[in-house]
Amino acid sequence: MTGELSPIDKAKYVAARRAADYVEDGMRVGLGTGSTAAWLVRCLGEQVRDGGLNFKGVPTSTRTADLAREVGIEVISLDEAKWLDLTIDGADEFDGDLNLIKGGGGALLQEKIVATASDQMVVIADIGKEVEHLGAFPLPIEVIPFGWQTTQALVEETLISMDVLGRQSSMRMNGDRPFITDEGNHILDLHLQRIGNPRQLSLVLNQMPGVVENGLFIDICDAVVIGYGDGRVEVRDINEGTVEQDRLDFLETDNLFSDLAE
Ligand code: 5RP
Repeated sequence: MTGELSPIDKAKYVAARRAADYVEDGMRVGLGTGSTAAWLVRCLGEQVRDGGLNFKGVPTSTRTADLAREVGIEVISLDEAKWLDLTIDGADEFDGDLNLIKGGGGALLQEKIVATASDQMVVIADIGKEVEHLGAFPLPIEVIPFGWQTTQALVEETLISMDVLGRQSSMRMNGDRPFITDEGNHILDLHLQRIGNPRQLSLVLNQMPGVVENGLFIDICDAVVIGYGDGRVEVRDINEGTVEQDRLDFLETDNLFSDLAE
């Protein structure tokens, strides 16, 4: 069964499985969105069903909420939880300071609200997500539909004075229609190539009318669990200044893989 997983999927899986160790009984946990976060949700669901793990999950998208309920996790809203012990989520890029680009899955707004409302944010990622400088992955920004083309023009104009290499942007599409977020907004992807000053760019973008939020996560992430295709995992904790290495075995009989095949 595991032979059907690509090295990247294996890397995502081992990162997610290792990160599941952060979740303890009684916690309120933010559950991220994307393929890596989906592995996490499946791993946690298995621990709830088979190991009696008892926690409440706050999903960052309707997709994650659906999956969490499906695998047996108790789902509550952020307003019910009010504050979270932990959020575990994927990322599109992370740098040496654990600053992130997120939003490849279009859920950056809820993801940022949930991560910011957490004592700790742990990112799970395959090693391909590590970069020296953020920006090769297009930076998503969530914009309200009203006047979005004017907002886009204003954003591109503003980028002229920013420390970035590229200034093109594109409307995220879903087939032949603009992609709609869970909040009913659109996503503009900014093709910046290299972001020299992510903190400044994030502040400037968020001051623009029409921009709801951007996908730069600055000083939000506390630790990253990096997965490799051969089963190795590395845990870097920026607060503790520690780096731990480990290796996880794949079990051919693992229920998670057979579940996927059904
Ligand atoms: C969704 C996200 C995801 O965490 C990010 O796109 C990474 O996704 P994946 O784990 O599928 O590579 O930010 O909005």
